[in-house]
Amino acid sequence: RSKQKTRWQCSACGATTSGWFGQCPSCREWNTIEELSERPTAGERVVLAAPGAKSKPVPVTEAQAEAAGETRLRTGIAELDRVLGGGLVPGSLVLLGGAPGIGKSTLLLQACTGLVSAGEGERTVLYASGEESIAQVANRAARLRGGSFGPGDEHLLLLAETRIEAILDHAADQAGRRPDVLVVDSIQTVYSDAQEGLPGNISQIRSVTGHLLSWAKTTKVPVVIVGHVTKDGQLAGPRLLEHMVDAVLSFEGDEERATRMLRASKNRFGSTAELGVFEMTGVGLREIENPSEAFLADHPEQAIGSAVTASLEGSRPLLLEVQALLGPSPGGSPRRTCVGADPNRLAMLLAVLDRHAGLFVVDQDVFVNVAGGLRLNEPAADLAVLLAVASSHMRKPIPAGTVIIGEVGLTGELRRVPRLDERLAEAARLGFSRAVVCGRGRDSKRKAPRKTGLELIEVQTVAEAVELTF
Ligand code: TYD
Ligand code: MG
Repeated sequence: RSKQKTRWQCSACGATTSGWFGQCPSCREWNTIEELSERPTAGERVVLAAPGAKSKPVPVTEAQAEAAGETRLRTGIAELDRVLGGGLVPGSLVLLGGAPGIGKSTLLLQACTGLVSAGEGERTVLYASGEESIAQVANRAARLRGGSFGPGDEHLLLLAETRIEAILDHAADQAGRRPDVLVVDSIQTVYSDAQEGLPGNISQIRSVTGHLLSWAKTTKVPVVIVGHVTKDGQLAGPRLLEHMVDAVLSFEGDEERATRMLRASKNRFGSTAELGVFEMTGVGLREIENPSEAFLADHPEQAIGSAVTASLEGSRPLLLEVQALLGPSPGGSPRRTCVGADPNRLAMLLAVLDRHAGLFVVDQDVFVNVAGGLRLNEPAADLAVLLAVASSHMRKPIPAGTVIIGEVGLTGELRRVPRLDERLAEAARLGFSRAVVCGRGRDSKRKAPRKTGLELIEVQTVAEAVELTF
C-alpha cells in the first residue's frame, strides 16, 4: 500500500505548496490553499486521443493539412465569432468568464439558437445547465426568439444536470449521433463522481474541466464552459483553469450601463486583440456594429477636460473619449485615480507635461476616466490623455470635432502610431474635422495630403501639441 501523502494547492494560481498557508506564497491571494487527495482521479488525467487509438508521430506537413481541414462553426453572432477568431474550432474547449448577471447564459443561448438555425436541421446543440431548470432556460430561449420558437429550434436540447458523468453520457453517441456543440453552464455547479469535495472547489473544477477537455479532444466536438468571476475579475475558480482551455473569453460591463464587451484574454486559434460589443436589451443581447458611435453618443461637443482618440481594437479602429479632472491636493501626496487608464502611464505623462510643456500639474489630484467603461490599451492614446489633462488644467476645452492620436516619449517628443490612416478614416466617418497627429511639425512646408478630408495638425512635441490644439 502506498504511503498516504497530502498535497496542498492554491485555488487561485494552481501553485502546489508544502503545507497549508493563509496566503499563497506564489500569487499572494489569501485563503486559497486547499488540501488535495494524493491519487489523481479520472478527470485529472487528460486524454488527447480516442480511447483505444494509439498516439503516433505525424510529419508536420501532414498534420497541418489535417488542421486546415477543420472548419469552424459559426455561431451566427458576428461579434462573438470575430472574438473567437472566426467561430468555434472543432474539439476546442472555450471558457466564457464574467461576473454573475452580466449575460453569459444569455449570450450562449443566443449562440446556441444561432448554431441550430444555421445548421438547418443538420446540427444539434446540447446546453447543460446546473444553474437553472430547463423550464427557466426554455422560457428565456423563447423570449430571445421573440416569443415563440421557429422551425429547427427543436435541435437545441436542454439538460438540467450537475454530474459531469451524466452530462457526458447524454452527450455520448446516442442513436448514432452526438451534439455538434456542448455548452456547460457553469463549471462551478458541476461535479464529478470520481472526485471528492463540493462543486466549485479546486479539485472538482479541475476534474470536471479535465473530463470536458478529454471529451472535446477525442470527439472533436467544441465545448463551451461558463465560469463566474469575482468582482475583481478573477475567475472564482482556479486560474489554472485558464491553462487547461484553448480560449478564455471574458464578458464585461458595468451595472449602470447596458453595454457589454467581449474580449479574448487567451486564444489558441485567433487574436486576443479583438473586441466584441453588445447592448443588453429586453430581448437579449444586440450586436453593436459601430461601437464608436455608441461610445461617443454622450460625448459633449466641447467640454473642459475631454479629448477623443482613435484606438485600435483588434481589426477595428474605435473612437473613445478620455476625461480628466484636476484639483488642488489637500494633503502632501497628490492622488492619481484612473478608470480605464494605466496609473503608471499617467504619472509619466504628468511628468512630461510638467517638464516639456511647462504645465505644472504634478502637485494636483488627477482623475482620468475613459468613457463607456472601455480601457486604453495602447500608447497611441497617450497624447489624448495628456491633452485632456492640459485642458482641465488650463480650463480650456479642446475645439469640437478634434481627434487626437499619438504616443508620447519621455523627452516630450511624439511617436507615430500604427495604422494611422484607418484611425483617421473612422474619425472622418463620424464627422470629425480636425486631427492632431505626430508629424513633421509646424515648420514643415509640405503638408502630406491624406484622403480623409480631415484638417491635419502635425506636431512633433508635446509643447507644440499643447500650443496648436487649443
Ligand atoms: P444572464 O445571462 O442570466 O447572466 P449570467 O449568466 O452571466 O449570470 O443575464 C442576466 C441578466 O440579464 C438579468 O439581470 C436579466 C438581464 N436580461 C435582459 O436584460 N434581457 C434579456 O433578454 C435577458 C435574457 C436577460
Ligand atoms: Mg447564467
